[in-house]
Amino acid sequence: MKMTAAVMYEQGLPTPYAKSNPFRIEEVDLDGPGEGEVLVEVKAAGLCHSDLSQVAGLRKRKLPVVGGHEGAGIVREVGRGVTRLKPGDHVVMTVASGCGHCRPCVDSRPALCDTVGASRGAGTLANGLRKLSRGGEPIYHYSGVSSFAQYSVTVPGTLIKADPAVPLDVAAMFGCAVVTGAGAVFNSAKVRPGQSVAVFGLGGVGLNSVMAARISGASPIIGIDINDTKFPLAKEVGCTHTFSALDPNLVQAVKDLTQGGVDFAVEVSGAKPAMASANAITRKGGEIICVGLGASGEMYQYAHAMLVGEEKAFRGSFMGTGVVERDLPRYLQYFMDGRMPVDRLKSGTMTFDELNHNLDLLDRGEVVRQVLLPNG
Ligand code: APR
Ligand code: ZN
Ligand code: ZN
Repeated sequence: MKMTAAVMYEQGLPTPYAKSNPFRIEEVDLDGPGEGEVLVEVKAAGLCHSDLSQVAGLRKRKLPVVGGHEGAGIVREVGRGVTRLKPGDHVVMTVASGCGHCRPCVDSRPALCDTVGASRGAGTLANGLRKLSRGGEPIYHYSGVSSFAQYSVTVPGTLIKADPAVPLDVAAMFGCAVVTGAGAVFNSAKVRPGQSVAVFGLGGVGLNSVMAARISGASPIIGIDINDTKFPLAKEVGCTHTFSALDPNLVQAVKDLTQGGVDFAVEVSGAKPAMASANAITRKGGEIICVGLGASGEMYQYAHAMLVGEEKAFRGSFMGTGVVERDLPRYLQYFMDGRMPVDRLKSGTMTFDELNHNLDLLDRGEVVRQVLLPNG
Protein backbone atom coordinates (compact mmCIF):
# COMPACT_ATOMS: atom_id res chain seq x y z
CA MET A 1 0.00 0.00 0.00
CA LYS A 2 0.97 3.64 -0.38
CA MET A 3 1.18 5.84 2.71
CA THR A 4 2.73 9.03 4.00
CA ALA A 5 5.76 8.71 6.26
CA ALA A 6 8.65 10.78 7.67
CA VAL A 7 11.85 9.48 6.08
CA MET A 8 15.38 10.39 7.17
CA TYR A 9 18.04 10.10 4.44
CA GLU A 10 20.96 11.73 6.20
CA GLN A 11 22.05 12.15 9.83
CA GLY A 12 23.95 15.14 11.22
CA LEU A 13 22.18 17.92 9.33
CA PRO A 14 22.56 21.32 11.06
CA THR A 15 20.07 23.09 13.30
CA PRO A 16 17.61 24.68 12.96
CA TYR A 17 15.90 21.55 11.70
CA ALA A 18 12.99 23.62 10.42
CA LYS A 19 15.52 24.73 7.74
CA SER A 20 17.64 21.61 7.18
CA ASN A 21 14.57 19.28 7.16
CA PRO A 22 16.09 15.99 8.37
CA PHE A 23 12.71 14.29 7.92
CA ARG A 24 11.21 14.34 4.43
CA ILE A 25 7.48 13.77 4.36
CA GLU A 26 6.98 11.38 1.46
CA GLU A 27 4.74 8.75 -0.01
CA VAL A 28 6.32 5.34 0.54
CA ASP A 29 5.37 1.72 -0.10
CA LEU A 30 4.47 -0.61 2.74
CA ASP A 31 4.14 -4.35 2.11
CA GLY A 32 1.11 -5.95 3.74
CA PRO A 33 1.46 -8.18 6.79
CA GLY A 34 2.93 -11.60 6.08
CA GLU A 35 2.82 -14.61 8.34
CA GLY A 36 3.29 -13.58 11.98
CA GLU A 37 2.97 -9.85 11.21
CA VAL A 38 0.42 -7.15 11.99
CA LEU A 39 -0.72 -4.01 10.17
CA VAL A 40 -1.40 -1.07 12.52
CA GLU A 41 -2.97 2.25 11.60
CA VAL A 42 -0.80 4.65 13.59
CA LYS A 43 -2.93 7.16 15.46
CA ALA A 44 -0.22 8.83 17.52
CA ALA A 45 3.59 8.79 17.85
CA GLY A 46 5.70 10.46 20.52
CA LEU A 47 8.82 12.50 19.79
CA CYS A 48 11.64 11.31 22.05
CA HIS A 49 15.07 12.79 22.70
CA SER A 50 16.51 9.63 21.12
CA ASP A 51 14.89 10.69 17.84
CA LEU A 52 16.80 13.95 18.17
CA SER A 53 20.03 12.05 18.84
CA GLN A 54 19.51 10.02 15.66
CA VAL A 55 18.83 13.18 13.68
CA ALA A 56 22.00 14.75 15.12
CA GLY A 57 23.95 11.61 14.15
CA LEU A 58 25.10 10.74 17.69
CA ARG A 59 24.35 7.08 16.96
CA LYS A 60 24.46 5.76 13.44
CA ARG A 61 21.43 4.14 11.85
CA LYS A 62 20.75 2.23 8.67
CA LEU A 63 19.42 4.82 6.18
CA PRO A 64 17.05 5.84 4.77
CA VAL A 65 14.75 5.12 7.69
CA VAL A 66 11.16 5.87 8.68
CA GLY A 67 11.50 7.42 12.15
CA GLY A 68 9.59 6.90 15.37
CA HIS A 69 10.01 4.29 18.10
CA GLU A 70 6.95 4.87 20.27
CA GLY A 71 3.35 5.06 19.21
CA ALA A 72 -0.19 3.83 19.47
CA GLY A 73 -2.79 2.79 16.94
CA ILE A 74 -5.45 0.36 15.89
CA VAL A 75 -4.83 -3.09 14.43
CA ARG A 76 -6.23 -3.22 10.89
CA GLU A 77 -5.05 -6.62 9.61
CA VAL A 78 -3.24 -9.64 10.99
CA GLY A 79 -1.11 -12.11 9.07
CA ARG A 80 -1.41 -15.89 9.24
CA GLY A 81 -0.57 -17.34 12.65
CA VAL A 82 -1.30 -14.19 14.67
CA THR A 83 -3.74 -15.16 17.39
CA ARG A 84 -3.05 -12.68 20.21
CA LEU A 85 -4.37 -9.63 18.26
CA LYS A 86 -7.31 -8.96 15.97
CA PRO A 87 -8.51 -6.05 13.80
CA GLY A 88 -9.92 -3.24 15.92
CA ASP A 89 -7.63 -3.81 18.92
CA HIS A 90 -6.02 -0.68 20.36
CA VAL A 91 -2.28 -1.17 20.82
CA VAL A 92 0.79 0.56 22.21
CA MET A 93 3.76 0.28 19.83
CA THR A 94 6.95 -0.33 21.77
CA VAL A 95 10.28 -2.13 21.56
CA ALA A 96 9.95 -5.74 20.59
CA SER A 97 9.84 -8.28 23.34
CA GLY A 98 12.66 -10.77 22.95
CA CYS A 99 12.98 -13.91 20.84
CA GLY A 100 12.51 -16.05 23.94
CA HIS A 101 15.50 -18.27 23.13
CA CYS A 102 18.78 -16.32 23.43
CA ARG A 103 20.75 -16.12 26.66
CA PRO A 104 19.32 -12.72 27.81
CA CYS A 105 15.79 -13.89 26.99
CA VAL A 106 16.07 -17.12 28.97
CA ASP A 107 17.47 -14.99 31.81
CA SER A 108 14.22 -12.92 31.68
CA ARG A 109 16.05 -9.89 30.24
CA PRO A 110 14.24 -9.49 26.87
CA ALA A 111 15.28 -5.83 26.57
CA LEU A 112 18.76 -7.23 25.91
CA CYS A 113 17.63 -9.84 23.36
CA ASP A 114 20.40 -10.68 20.87
CA THR A 115 17.98 -11.17 17.96
CA VAL A 116 16.06 -7.95 18.54
CA GLY A 117 19.33 -6.05 19.05
CA ALA A 118 20.67 -7.36 15.73
CA SER A 119 17.44 -6.46 13.90
CA ARG A 120 17.56 -2.95 15.35
CA GLY A 121 21.05 -2.50 13.92
CA ALA A 122 20.02 -3.98 10.58
CA GLY A 123 16.98 -1.71 10.32
CA THR A 124 14.55 -4.60 10.01
CA LEU A 125 11.63 -5.93 12.00
CA ALA A 126 12.46 -8.35 14.80
CA ASN A 127 11.80 -11.20 12.33
CA GLY A 128 14.62 -9.93 10.09
CA LEU A 129 12.28 -8.71 7.31
CA ARG A 130 11.85 -5.25 5.77
CA LYS A 131 8.47 -4.01 4.62
CA LEU A 132 9.26 -0.42 3.54
CA SER A 133 10.47 0.88 0.18
CA ARG A 134 10.14 3.80 -2.21
CA GLY A 135 10.38 3.49 -5.97
CA GLY A 136 11.76 -0.03 -5.46
CA GLU A 137 14.61 1.21 -3.24
CA PRO A 138 14.77 -0.09 0.35
CA ILE A 139 13.76 1.99 3.34
CA TYR A 140 14.60 0.69 6.80
CA HIS A 141 12.63 0.34 10.02
CA TYR A 142 13.50 2.28 13.15
CA SER A 143 13.70 -0.03 16.18
CA GLY A 144 11.19 -2.31 14.45
CA VAL A 145 8.45 0.30 15.01
CA SER A 146 8.68 3.26 12.54
CA SER A 147 5.69 5.09 13.96
CA PHE A 148 6.23 8.36 12.07
CA ALA A 149 3.97 6.94 9.39
CA GLN A 150 0.29 6.47 8.68
CA TYR A 151 0.66 2.69 8.97
CA SER A 152 3.17 0.25 10.34
CA VAL A 153 3.71 -3.43 9.74
CA THR A 154 5.41 -5.04 12.69
CA VAL A 155 5.55 -8.23 14.76
CA PRO A 156 3.08 -8.91 17.60
CA GLY A 157 5.90 -8.69 20.17
CA THR A 158 6.12 -4.91 19.65
CA LEU A 159 2.40 -4.45 20.30
CA ILE A 160 0.71 -4.38 23.69
CA LYS A 161 -3.07 -4.28 23.82
CA ALA A 162 -4.50 -1.18 25.49
CA ASP A 163 -7.96 -0.50 26.87
CA PRO A 164 -9.75 1.80 24.38
CA ALA A 165 -10.49 4.02 27.41
CA VAL A 166 -6.86 5.19 27.21
CA PRO A 167 -6.71 7.98 24.60
CA LEU A 168 -4.32 6.92 21.85
CA ASP A 169 -2.31 10.17 22.00
CA VAL A 170 -1.59 9.31 25.64
CA ALA A 171 -1.07 5.58 25.00
CA ALA A 172 1.67 6.51 22.49
CA MET A 173 3.89 7.88 25.25
CA PHE A 174 3.90 4.49 27.00
CA GLY A 175 5.96 2.97 24.15
CA CYS A 176 9.27 4.52 25.16
CA ALA A 177 8.91 7.36 27.70
CA VAL A 178 6.92 5.34 30.24
CA VAL A 179 8.59 1.97 29.68
CA THR A 180 12.06 3.52 29.94
CA GLY A 181 11.50 6.03 32.72
CA ALA A 182 9.27 3.97 35.00
CA GLY A 183 11.20 0.76 34.34
CA ALA A 184 14.43 2.45 35.45
CA VAL A 185 12.89 2.88 38.91
CA PHE A 186 10.77 -0.28 39.20
CA ASN A 187 13.02 -2.79 37.44
CA SER A 188 16.58 -1.40 37.35
CA ALA A 189 16.75 0.33 40.74
CA LYS A 190 13.97 -1.68 42.46
CA VAL A 191 13.28 1.27 44.74
CA ARG A 192 11.73 0.42 48.13
CA PRO A 193 9.47 2.68 50.23
CA GLY A 194 11.39 5.37 52.07
CA GLN A 195 14.46 5.26 49.84
CA SER A 196 15.65 8.53 48.33
CA VAL A 197 15.71 9.08 44.58
CA ALA A 198 17.14 11.89 42.46
CA VAL A 199 16.26 12.18 38.78
CA PHE A 200 18.51 14.15 36.41
CA GLY A 201 16.63 15.38 33.33
CA LEU A 202 12.94 16.16 33.82
CA GLY A 203 11.84 15.45 30.26
CA GLY A 204 9.42 12.85 28.91
CA VAL A 205 11.45 9.91 30.20
CA GLY A 206 12.66 11.46 33.48
CA LEU A 207 9.19 12.53 34.61
CA ASN A 208 8.08 8.92 34.31
CA SER A 209 10.94 7.99 36.65
CA VAL A 210 9.58 10.63 39.04
CA MET A 211 6.05 9.16 38.86
CA ALA A 212 7.37 5.63 39.40
CA ALA A 213 9.42 6.82 42.38
CA ARG A 214 6.25 8.26 43.89
CA ILE A 215 4.34 5.00 43.35
CA SER A 216 7.28 3.14 44.94
CA GLY A 217 6.95 5.27 48.08
CA ALA A 218 10.35 6.94 47.63
CA SER A 219 11.18 9.96 49.77
CA PRO A 220 12.53 12.46 49.09
CA ILE A 221 12.18 12.57 45.30
CA ILE A 222 14.58 15.16 43.96
CA GLY A 223 14.31 16.53 40.42
CA ILE A 224 17.37 18.10 38.82
CA ASP A 225 17.47 19.91 35.48
CA ILE A 226 19.40 22.74 33.82
CA ASN A 227 16.06 24.24 32.80
CA ASP A 228 13.98 25.43 35.75
CA THR A 229 10.84 25.79 33.64
CA LYS A 230 10.62 21.97 34.05
CA PHE A 231 10.19 22.24 37.83
CA PRO A 232 6.47 23.03 38.28
CA LEU A 233 5.34 19.94 36.32
CA ALA A 234 7.98 17.83 38.05
CA LYS A 235 6.57 18.85 41.41
CA GLU A 236 3.04 18.20 40.24
CA VAL A 237 3.86 14.61 39.25
CA GLY A 238 5.91 13.72 42.32
CA CYS A 239 9.10 15.67 43.04
CA THR A 240 9.35 16.77 46.66
CA HIS A 241 12.34 19.01 45.84
CA THR A 242 13.90 20.46 42.70
CA PHE A 243 17.41 21.81 42.12
CA SER A 244 19.13 23.46 39.21
CA ALA A 245 21.86 21.28 37.71
CA LEU A 246 23.82 24.51 37.31
CA ASP A 247 23.71 25.34 41.04
CA PRO A 248 27.34 25.26 42.26
CA ASN A 249 26.00 24.14 45.64
CA LEU A 250 24.00 21.20 44.21
CA VAL A 251 26.03 18.35 45.68
CA GLN A 252 26.13 19.77 49.20
CA ALA A 253 22.46 20.73 49.10
CA VAL A 254 21.40 17.19 48.15
CA LYS A 255 23.74 15.62 50.71
CA ASP A 256 22.33 17.87 53.44
CA LEU A 257 18.78 17.00 52.46
CA THR A 258 19.42 13.24 52.42
CA GLN A 259 21.92 12.79 55.28
CA GLY A 260 24.82 12.01 53.01
CA GLY A 261 23.40 11.37 49.54
CA VAL A 262 20.58 9.64 47.68
CA ASP A 263 20.04 5.89 47.51
CA PHE A 264 19.50 6.14 43.75
CA ALA A 265 20.51 8.81 41.25
CA VAL A 266 18.68 8.17 37.97
CA GLU A 267 20.48 9.92 35.09
CA VAL A 268 17.96 10.53 32.31
CA SER A 269 19.32 13.63 30.56
CA GLY A 270 22.03 11.96 28.50
CA ALA A 271 24.31 14.92 29.39
CA LYS A 272 27.83 13.95 30.40
CA PRO A 273 28.15 16.53 33.23
CA ALA A 274 24.97 15.13 34.77
CA MET A 275 26.65 11.72 35.19
CA ALA A 276 29.44 13.31 37.27
CA SER A 277 26.88 15.09 39.46
CA ALA A 278 24.79 11.90 39.75
CA ASN A 279 27.84 10.07 41.05
CA ALA A 280 28.67 12.88 43.48
CA ILE A 281 25.22 13.03 45.09
CA THR A 282 24.86 9.25 45.55
CA ARG A 283 25.41 7.98 49.07
CA LYS A 284 27.88 5.29 50.04
CA GLY A 285 26.41 1.97 48.91
CA GLY A 286 24.02 3.75 46.55
CA GLU A 287 23.42 3.19 42.86
CA ILE A 288 23.65 5.41 39.81
CA ILE A 289 21.03 4.26 37.28
CA CYS A 290 22.26 5.22 33.81
CA VAL A 291 19.39 5.76 31.35
CA GLY A 292 20.33 8.78 29.22
CA LEU A 293 22.37 8.07 26.11
CA GLY A 294 25.00 10.40 24.71
CA ALA A 295 27.05 9.81 21.56
CA SER A 296 28.07 6.19 21.00
CA GLY A 297 31.71 5.62 21.85
CA GLU A 298 31.89 8.51 24.30
CA MET A 299 34.06 7.77 27.37
CA TYR A 300 33.19 8.80 30.95
CA GLN A 301 35.49 9.14 33.98
CA TYR A 302 35.05 8.23 37.64
CA ALA A 303 37.28 7.96 40.71
CA HIS A 304 37.89 4.23 41.04
CA ALA A 305 39.06 4.26 44.67
CA MET A 306 35.83 5.99 45.64
CA LEU A 307 33.75 3.42 43.75
CA VAL A 308 35.48 0.63 45.67
CA GLY A 309 35.73 2.35 49.05
CA GLU A 310 32.15 3.59 48.98
CA GLU A 311 30.67 0.51 47.31
CA LYS A 312 28.79 2.49 44.71
CA ALA A 313 27.37 0.84 41.62
CA PHE A 314 26.76 2.11 38.11
CA ARG A 315 23.78 0.27 36.60
CA GLY A 316 22.89 0.58 32.94
CA SER A 317 19.16 0.65 32.27
CA PHE A 318 18.00 0.02 28.71
CA MET A 319 14.30 0.40 27.89
CA GLY A 320 13.59 0.16 31.59
CA THR A 321 15.11 -3.33 31.96
CA GLY A 322 11.61 -4.18 30.87
CA VAL A 323 9.45 -7.16 30.07
CA VAL A 324 6.88 -5.24 28.07
CA GLU A 325 4.09 -7.85 28.22
CA ARG A 326 4.38 -7.82 32.01
CA ASP A 327 5.06 -4.11 32.61
CA LEU A 328 2.99 -2.16 30.10
CA PRO A 329 -0.47 -3.44 31.16
CA ARG A 330 0.45 -2.51 34.76
CA TYR A 331 1.60 1.00 33.73
CA LEU A 332 -1.59 1.52 31.71
CA GLN A 333 -3.60 0.52 34.78
CA TYR A 334 -1.65 3.03 36.90
CA PHE A 335 -2.69 5.69 34.38
CA MET A 336 -6.33 4.64 34.51
CA ASP A 337 -6.22 4.68 38.33
CA GLY A 338 -4.85 8.24 38.23
CA ARG A 339 -1.54 7.20 39.83
CA MET A 340 0.58 7.85 36.74
CA PRO A 341 -0.76 10.98 34.99
CA VAL A 342 1.13 10.46 31.75
CA ASP A 343 -1.34 12.75 29.97
CA ARG A 344 0.27 15.69 31.83
CA LEU A 345 3.51 15.10 29.88
CA LYS A 346 1.92 15.82 26.51
CA SER A 347 3.05 19.28 25.38
CA GLY A 348 0.96 19.25 22.23
CA THR A 349 0.07 17.41 19.07
CA MET A 350 1.35 17.98 15.52
CA THR A 351 0.88 16.92 11.95
CA PHE A 352 3.71 15.82 9.63
CA ASP A 353 4.42 19.35 8.39
CA GLU A 354 5.40 20.48 11.90
CA LEU A 355 7.74 17.56 12.67
CA ASN A 356 11.06 19.20 11.73
CA HIS A 357 10.20 22.45 13.48
CA ASN A 358 9.14 20.52 16.59
CA LEU A 359 12.54 18.80 16.69
CA ASP A 360 13.92 22.31 17.29
CA LEU A 361 11.51 22.85 20.20
CA LEU A 362 12.68 19.60 21.84
CA ASP A 363 16.31 20.48 21.12
CA ARG A 364 15.89 23.82 22.86
CA GLY A 365 14.20 22.17 25.85
CA GLU A 366 10.99 24.13 25.38
CA VAL A 367 8.64 21.12 25.45
CA VAL A 368 8.24 17.75 27.14
CA ARG A 369 6.50 15.18 24.90
CA GLN A 370 5.12 16.24 21.52
CA VAL A 371 2.83 13.79 19.79
CA LEU A 372 2.58 13.34 16.03
CA LEU A 373 -0.85 12.45 14.63
CA PRO A 374 0.10 10.78 11.32
CA ASN A 375 -3.49 10.49 10.18
CA GLY A 376 -4.39 14.05 11.13
N1 APR B 1 21.63 18.08 33.91
C1 APR B 1 20.31 17.88 34.16
N2 APR B 1 19.36 17.92 33.19
C2 APR B 1 19.76 18.19 31.95
C3 APR B 1 21.11 18.40 31.61
C4 APR B 1 22.08 18.35 32.66
N3 APR B 1 23.37 18.55 32.45
N4 APR B 1 21.18 18.63 30.27
C5 APR B 1 19.93 18.55 29.79
N5 APR B 1 19.05 18.30 30.79
C6 APR B 1 17.61 18.15 30.74
C7 APR B 1 16.89 18.98 29.69
O1 APR B 1 16.71 20.31 30.10
C8 APR B 1 15.57 18.21 29.56
O2 APR B 1 14.59 18.70 30.47
O3 APR B 1 17.29 16.82 30.40
C9 APR B 1 15.94 16.77 29.93
C10 APR B 1 15.86 15.81 28.74
O4 APR B 1 14.52 15.70 28.40
P1 APR B 1 14.01 15.43 26.91
O5 APR B 1 14.75 16.27 25.95
O6 APR B 1 12.52 15.50 26.96
O7 APR B 1 14.50 13.93 26.65
P2 APR B 1 13.76 12.51 26.85
O8 APR B 1 12.92 12.23 25.64
O9 APR B 1 13.13 12.48 28.19
O10 APR B 1 14.99 11.53 26.78
C11 APR B 1 16.00 11.58 27.78
O11 APR B 1 16.51 9.28 27.61
O12 APR B 1 15.90 7.79 25.96
C12 APR B 1 16.93 8.54 26.49
O13 APR B 1 18.47 8.96 24.77
C13 APR B 1 17.40 9.50 25.45
O14 APR B 1 19.17 10.62 26.45
C14 APR B 1 17.79 10.70 26.22
C15 APR B 1 17.07 10.58 27.54
ZN1 ZN C 1 12.79 6.94 23.21
ZN1 ZN D 1 16.23 -13.14 22.63
